[in-house]
Amino acid sequence: MRDVAVIGVGCTEFGEHWGTSFRDLFVKAGALALEDAGVTGERLDALYVGNMSAGRFVEQEHIGALIADYAGLATNNTPSTRVEAACASGGLAFRQAVIAVASGMEDVVVAAGVEKMTDVGTGASVDMLASAADREWEGFAGATFPGLYAMIANDYMHRYPLTREQLALVAVKNHENGAKNPIAQFRNRITVDTVLNSSLVADPLRLFDCSPITDGAAAVVVVPLERAREFTDSPVRVLASAQASDTIALHDRRDISTLDASVAAGKRAFTQAGLTHKDIDMLEVHDCFTIAEICAIEDLGFCKKGEAGRLTADGATALGGEIPVNTSGGLKACGHPVGATGIKQIYEIVSQLRGEAGGRQVDAEIGMAHNVGGTGATVVVHILGA
Ligand code: COA
Repeated sequence: MRDVAVIGVGCTEFGEHWGTSFRDLFVKAGALALEDAGVTGERLDALYVGNMSAGRFVEQEHIGALIADYAGLATNNTPSTRVEAACASGGLAFRQAVIAVASGMEDVVVAAGVEKMTDVGTGASVDMLASAADREWEGFAGATFPGLYAMIANDYMHRYPLTREQLALVAVKNHENGAKNPIAQFRNRITVDTVLNSSLVADPLRLFDCSPITDGAAAVVVVPLERAREFTDSPVRVLASAQASDTIALHDRRDISTLDASVAAGKRAFTQAGLTHKDIDMLEVHDCFTIAEICAIEDLGFCKKGEAGRLTADGATALGGEIPVNTSGGLKACGHPVGATGIKQIYEIVSQLRGEAGGRQVDAEIGMAHNVGGTGATVVVHILGA
């Protein structure tokens, strides 16, 4: 196996892109990543594209070929593969690219993610997202994603000392970080009262506990570490790439407040990298709902079960805190174009490790990305180092 490095990153602004098509979003992110890496399209050996549901959101399938075509690579016959794992599609596309390069099969590879969700209304969008859960046992019974995460929140708050205010502070912190991120969908600062007075979505989760519905794309270029200096003076090493699965339905889980796939993927990543949580300087976690960030911090081993609310309230997860979490603003403030989120997490970590994160810069040499599909049936964890 070869060591792998990221040599370039690109990301569109996340938000409502009514004037930009699905394919144009991808092409923009891809062009930014190639420009950043200093490579041209002809040098690419392969593309891996994370996308959850273009067939339903924009009525387009065969995404691998579409992307290769509109990236101008069809005439080069560049292999291009769509990767799908619901909201973890982006993280898994990155993992596929890393595996391809590590194995020696391919050298210069783009991993990307794209989703265009706002061409349909909220109802349709929520229904499509529900297909990432168990349609027969959960979706057909009326469960939506906010509903399923509300069950996790209720169970968690029943068993552990998490207050409603502490949960709100996750969103307050992520909006604070998002306010400093030019690609974020929401760049407004909020208070605990904003969260507590926002409309109830699925008790106890309110509007500001939820990630929104978003359009966006992100792309990164990976190569073997031994070739990285041909392209850039600041390669970022991939220290670990781990994945884990769990039951697709929440009711089959051992414990619905612990995402066992997060625990397993986190442990595998630490073992691969030969690191512990004390070595990690920053975390991008999958905060599709505020409770998900609380669970992620604990499941990845950064504190004991039941402690992440206090950690958040103490400021330990804020910029400049002991372990900054979601310096990008997370899914909450950046938005969550489901197929693109996992790549945007890599984009953020690379930006931080290269010292290019502007007003949200933290002192970091090693970062961890945690991307979740569904309510935790797929989890992908990466560790990157400067
Ligand atoms: N946080 C903050 N503000 C939000 C928001 C969010 N999550 N979602 C929407 N808004 C804002 C909009 O900007 C808009 O503001 P404006 O009136 O000032 O323009 C307003 O709220 C209404 O927006 P709208 O698009 O009509 O919201 P909605 O009520 O249709 O949808 C949710 C809100 C929470 C139902 C929807 O965002 C949702 O389902 N989120 C979860 C997505 C999800 O499950 N992702 C997968 C997770 S694994």
